[in-house]
Amino acid sequence: RDLTAFIARLPKAELHLHVEGSLEPELMMALAARNHVTVPYADVQAARDARASFTSLQDFLNLYYEGMSVLLTEQDFFDLTDAYLARAASEGVRHTEIMFDPQAHLNRGVPFSTFFPGLQRAVEEAPARHGLTASLIMCFMRDLGAESAADVLQQAVPYLQHISGVGLDSAEHGYPPSLFTEVFKKAGELGLKRMAHAGEEGGPENIWSAMKDLQVDRVDHGVRCLDDPQLVAHLEETQVALTVCPLSNLCLQVYPGSLGEKLRQLLQDTKVAVTVNSDDPAYFFHADSGGGYVNANYTYLANVAGLSASQLAQLAAAGFRASFLDDVAKRQHI
Ligand code: ADE
Ligand code: ZN
Repeated sequence: RDLTAFIARLPKAELHLHVEGSLEPELMMALAARNHVTVPYADVQAARDARASFTSLQDFLNLYYEGMSVLLTEQDFFDLTDAYLARAASEGVRHTEIMFDPQAHLNRGVPFSTFFPGLQRAVEEAPARHGLTASLIMCFMRDLGAESAADVLQQAVPYLQHISGVGLDSAEHGYPPSLFTEVFKKAGELGLKRMAHAGEEGGPENIWSAMKDLQVDRVDHGVRCLDDPQLVAHLEETQVALTVCPLSNLCLQVYPGSLGEKLRQLLQDTKVAVTVNSDDPAYFFHADSGGGYVNANYTYLANVAGLSASQLAQLAAAGFRASFLDDVAKRQHI
């Protein structure tokens, strides 16, 4: 049975989305021209072709950080975020929690006072312009270390009223969550929610560490929990949600063997709280997927895991439940 139309109509929440990963080749080339930035692509098609296949997380990250070089002005960050919000709304997303990578901009000489107001204005105008709500999650790049993360948190202090939480992203190998215990503790004291990418390219030990050392409210990806039955039991008991991104995992080839079988197991054989998300939708348009946005992720998952319409509806509800919306707003959506 074709569930595509059912998925499109489902009200959804998106909880794992890097706004820089929603930079479509068209907008990247337009911003390159507008800002007189040189990119190594002759045209939009060449830029798209460069994203057609990745061999690893790092292989993707190299292109992802390069793509951001066109983002220079407050308007650029508004345009990027607004374009994502329009697309998400068109796919039935009613609430989204958007990650951004301050260090990737600060390190290019783009200050907080430039990128943040652009992101924030798009989020603020989202209900009126697109009919959905949004919030912002500030990610620390783990490969830049804990000292840099603490510095970013300090720089973010004037903007904290517009930030719902902090995350931890970029290369997982060699940078365990425990390195960031101190800065996450500080973030918690500042009233911020906490999450971390873990169990994407790393193993279950990173998920344990994210939960125990960083006290995370959600685990981003986390599919590698399946390698540790005790961890699965702990996730079932605590109901700390995983923000799973099927097409990202597929495109980055993060699991040896069958990803489809892993996802089927996670959804059908466990009671772990799972949510469905797109991660970097402008980069993960796998040939089998029909685009990398959230509905394509639901469709892929429905196919590989053999999900019914009611299971899909439960997944969508799980997204709202695991969101940082207050209880009243959650009930309005579910
Ligand atoms: N930054 C953007 N997407 C990411 C991913 N899937 N894993 C780690 N860092 C990221
Ligand atoms: Zn991610």
